[in-house]
Amino acid sequence: MFEKKTVRDVDVKDQVVLVRTDYNVPLTVTDEGKMAVASDFRIREGLPTLRSLLENGAKKLILMSHMGRPEGKDEKLSLRVVAETLAGLLPGSVVNFVDEATGPLVKEAVDELPERGILLLENLRFDKREKEGSEELAKEIVEATGATLFVQDGFAVTHRAHASTVAVAKLLPAVAGLLLEQEVTMLRGALAEPERPLVAVIGGAKVADKQPLIDRFLPVADRIIIGGKIAADGYESDHAQIYVAEDFDTDGEGTRLDIGPIATAKMAGMVSGAKTVIWNGLLGKAEDPAYATSSTILAKILGERDDETSIILGGDTSGFVEGLYMEDPSLTYSLISTGGGAALELLAGGEMPGVEVLEGK
Ligand code: 3PG
Repeated sequence: MFEKKTVRDVDVKDQVVLVRTDYNVPLTVTDEGKMAVASDFRIREGLPTLRSLLENGAKKLILMSHMGRPEGKDEKLSLRVVAETLAGLLPGSVVNFVDEATGPLVKEAVDELPERGILLLENLRFDKREKEGSEELAKEIVEATGATLFVQDGFAVTHRAHASTVAVAKLLPAVAGLLLEQEVTMLRGALAEPERPLVAVIGGAKVADKQPLIDRFLPVADRIIIGGKIAADGYESDHAQIYVAEDFDTDGEGTRLDIGPIATAKMAGMVSGAKTVIWNGLLGKAEDPAYATSSTILAKILGERDDETSIILGGDTSGFVEGLYMEDPSLTYSLISTGGGAALELLAGGEMPGVEVLEGK
């Protein structure tokens, strides 16, 4: 299911490893007016790869990521706060930060980094050449860091053909990290050889975004349940396996903000009988607890069962489920994907240039 080399297939001993992570995490402003990481989910999910590289003798780890979609340098989108969070998650490791991604400052920071140390580079997207997929930028990164091996572990950005996902991978031996391997394997496997019944639950706001996913599920899913704003806006389908929520909870003005008790009960019944459940898109306006009922019920049914494969996809849905899991770690899921657009792209059969470019087995 995963045909690319991974960190397990190469000797990382004494290598300076350049790791592409996806640390594009939500930020918040503290009471003191400082930026801080609001959810460290993506950072934590990437730790097994970093630990594995260090345990297997990598000399230094140079991490690179983007954050947000800046137009040029923007202090509010600096990765410095991520380095601070990472340091807290890896007690005992040196975690440094350098506020450039190329050039002499980076070279100096790599030279100063002790063996087994970790250095995080500044937000790659401060340089517009990153999104252009620039070979020149990729060369500058490789030269400044002195990297000898490239590891792609930023699953959430592998649908982008950028300098740090494709161009860099062409300059160095390039393999997958453990998070990338896990996500791609689970997502592909869920559609290729699912345990049945397979139920897909699709919510969210925009039909245009969700229709490709619904089309992808139609030939494979036993049931597709449609909730969220797309159902509230009157989504219609004559496919027998599609169930569109039939009642809604509304606010005082009659705006449909969550699927209603009948739809929630039907959804719960279908999901409880399923062996594989793939969920993308919240079923109601779940950021408001008054309209989070159906999404919470679904998350709990999936989390409390351990005899099924449950895959949670998409930034909002993963964030919501991750929040419930933090409150109650007894909930278990097969995969809470770190990939928003990337996971949807993969499931819809789209291209994943950041995966394709890696060395085959
Ligand atoms: C994501 O959050 O989906 C990834 O980090 C990719 O970000 P992008 O959509 O800005 O490329």
